Amino acid sequence: MSTPFAALKNDTFLKALLRQPTDYTPLWLMRQAGRYLPEYRATRKGAGSFMSLAKNPDFATEVTIQPLDRFELDAAILFSDILTVPDAMGLGLYFEEGEGPKFERPLKDEKDVLALKVPEAGSLQYVFDAVTQIRRTLNGRVPLIGFSGSPWTLACYMVEGQGSREFHTVKTMMYKRPDLMEHILKTNATAVASYLNAQIDAGAQAVMIFDSWGGALADGAYQRFSLNYMQDVVNQLQREKDGQRIPAIVFTKGGGLWLEQIAGIGADAVGLDWTVNLGQARARIGDKVALQGNLDPAVLFADHDQIRQQVISSLQAYGTPDAGHGHVFNLGHGISQFTPPDAVSVLVDTVHEYSRQQRQNIA
Ligand code: CP3
Repeated sequence: MSTPFAALKNDTFLKALLRQPTDYTPLWLMRQAGRYLPEYRATRKGAGSFMSLAKNPDFATEVTIQPLDRFELDAAILFSDILTVPDAMGLGLYFEEGEGPKFERPLKDEKDVLALKVPEAGSLQYVFDAVTQIRRTLNGRVPLIGFSGSPWTLACYMVEGQGSREFHTVKTMMYKRPDLMEHILKTNATAVASYLNAQIDAGAQAVMIFDSWGGALADGAYQRFSLNYMQDVVNQLQREKDGQRIPAIVFTKGGGLWLEQIAGIGADAVGLDWTVNLGQARARIGDKVALQGNLDPAVLFADHDQIRQQVISSLQAYGTPDAGHGHVFNLGHGISQFTPPDAVSVLVDTVHEYSRQQRQNIA
């Protein structure tokens, strides 16, 4: 039997997700490992490509830890990508310099859709190996987050074959052939649930579902084609491992109007983008779930004093967490590759300092 993992030294993030009291507001940043860090760019250059970083557990561990060595972040997130799942389904993921992800074999017609299968056990083993190696290397420093795309967001890339502004192809399929769309989403939900459960078995201490494109859907279509299948995933998740609760976070970018419904699918926390006021969101969902978010990533391009002010406004909007509430500070979407690393130091220090003062009622 392998040796157990080290005990956690900083469990502030997990406590906030579970709406337990914390001494300060914990934070991490979506895409905290990435191109805005010179050390990431150096490792990536050595590895040759994004996928050769992600597929090699030594590289994946190195870049996961890089932001933690620079900033006092309260969680680590597995270095990988949401598109590993459709890649393992045989769609052929590749990255073209400066162009974002693409698939060699997108789902074009009924024949492609009906041939779609949940990935074979083993095809994503490199991800689970990375999770275990990162957790061992962290040695209890902070918790490790595992993640996946939502069934809908994955379907957007699988049908479009790449990123999109209008989602013309995937929406055409959704409205013309909802039966085919539902076949994809059902397959994705099964694949995502077993992918997240395998990450939990490998050592992930919380999991997050990224629904980056749910906000592109009409009211009604969102509930049917995105939320419904995230609920399916959450229902299938193992929620405990070695006696510890494994919190689940769901994040629909652009989902603020549906907050109550998102908070009702059984996740422990809901991620918010910057269009939502945190205090109003807190009032709307009460003590149902914790909230994660939601600073506009563009704030990090302002002057340091302005960044401090914006961070403080955001902490004030949420207010002081009391019994039954929880807030994890984050950006409202991934950090931009052009962000100056100094700005991140200002953000991290302000969140920690100001949120401690808030709890001592001296802010
Ligand atoms: O947060 C982290 O630090 C963990 C790593 C992570 C990556 N992608 C690494 C990555 C996570 C959590 C993701 C999620 C992801 N990937 C999402 C959901 C979150 C979101 O941003 O909405 C989506 C939609 C993707 C798909 C994807 N992967 C895109 C659109 C791109 C290109 C965009 C870009 O920033 O260039 C990627 C590539 C990617 N994934 C990079 C990183 C660090 C950049 C690749 C490189 O090094 O060139």
